[in-house]
Amino acid sequence: MKEQLIRETPAKVYLVLFSLSLLLNIFFFYQQFFSQSHHLSPRLGSTVSDLSWTRHAAEEAEAVAAISCSSHGRAYVDGVLDNGQPACECNTCYTGIDCSVLLSNCSADVEGGDPLFLEPYWMQQAAKSAVVLSGWHRMSYATTDRFKSLELEKNIRRLHAAVGNAITDGKHLVFGTGSTQLLNALVYALSPENASSPSSVVATIPYYSMYKEQTELFNGRDYEWEGATAKWRNSNKTNFIEFVTSPNNPDCLLCDSVLGGSSVIYDHAYYWPHFTAIPKPADGDVMIFTVSKLSGHAGSRFGWAFIKDENVYNKVSNYLQYNSMGASRETQSRLLNYVKVISDEIGSNADIFEFGFNKLRKRWQRLQALVNSSSRFSLQQLSTQYCTYFKKIRDPSPAYAWLKCENEEDTDCAEVLMKGGIISRGGTNFGASTRYTRLSLLKTDDHFEMLLQKLKPLVACSDENSSEMISSF
Ligand SMILES: Cc1ncc(COP(=O)(O)O)c(C=O)c1O
Repeated sequence: MKEQLIRETPAKVYLVLFSLSLLLNIFFFYQQFFSQSHHLSPRLGSTVSDLSWTRHAAEEAEAVAAISCSSHGRAYVDGVLDNGQPACECNTCYTGIDCSVLLSNCSADVEGGDPLFLEPYWMQQAAKSAVVLSGWHRMSYATTDRFKSLELEKNIRRLHAAVGNAITDGKHLVFGTGSTQLLNALVYALSPENASSPSSVVATIPYYSMYKEQTELFNGRDYEWEGATAKWRNSNKTNFIEFVTSPNNPDCLLCDSVLGGSSVIYDHAYYWPHFTAIPKPADGDVMIFTVSKLSGHAGSRFGWAFIKDENVYNKVSNYLQYNSMGASRETQSRLLNYVKVISDEIGSNADIFEFGFNKLRKRWQRLQALVNSSSRFSLQQLSTQYCTYFKKIRDPSPAYAWLKCENEEDTDCAEVLMKGGIISRGGTNFGASTRYTRLSLLKTDDHFEMLLQKLKPLVACSDENSSEMISSF
């Protein structure tokens, strides 16, 4: 009898424990899937279980996002279909249905400034960043302020104030289809009509090539491309339109105007805390920014400019009216959400600037260590600097490496790299010597890792002793 009791007791205990665990599981399952879905949507007063016409779109978006591309690619709702579902679009050097196959003999493509280093940030913020639009969303040409969403305007000003990178009070705001559209709009607007000679559009070497390319392409009567500022430093000429890119593309240095008495267009595409220290808020009369480098949404094609002078603002507005009738309303809606998320997360552990800064700083440190391990190449000199955003002295975290070939025989640096399997953007694109070339640090981890892999043997080439050291990168 006693023996039977002893045998039965553990069985009963197990049964009780099992039942308890079952009950707990049912409770948590209910919490997870039912109680959450019955939370009230605060603005609309409906429950999530009431959703009808958004359900299909939401399911489709989640299903596509869940397609595995082995972390070397991604599938999109508008991607080319394979067996009825969007196929993976693989990062350079990867192939296969799920992008799991690494191509041999593939070049590291670090030519363009595609800001995909921020893609993992938005994946982490999947719930906050999803946007749902109805089929009848803003069909009109007009939005809340003709071509501009007033809520977006308000939130962009709020973001600048929170980051402390620009003074926007007392300045008009215009939206463009990428900041690219605004470059020529501003050149046009700053060129006086009927002047005795056209305005000279200039920039300091090394400069972002789009200024030259656009000015020459549009070929206006009132302005012309006149090249490098160095040529004009000691001239009496005054009617310049000077592009100042700060931080600069390609060398990432903070810059200022070098020609006094001219109209200045400050291109602050990279004046955000992930790329540079913010020593003080920018306060130019004409300042351009772009979402491409702020949030990484280059494909959305959205940029903005603050303009102090009312006449210049009116001329830019006219240009935008006749050129495109304003920036896409869908894009404005989508970006309203991202700008809000960025502002709301400032200082939290989902701060996009902290995320971007950490990623780019690490990339820069690894590249710098590799390049400095021999004398074949050198990089631009960037120093630590106090940042009002992070409230501390911060390390450099540039968007680009401006690489110089130091060996006498390596006269064309882009070609040297190309032979070693690295696609870069050669110095002449920036008005500079072929001894220089630009490496983008903005792309995916795959691009960056491939860059280091291909650069190692090139760096080692200059010095046999260094090869041992280099193998550790
Ligand atoms: C300095 C600079 N300005 C403007 C742009 C264009 O940006 P967006 O994508 O807004 O046209 C870029 C793009 O790389 C850039 O580097």
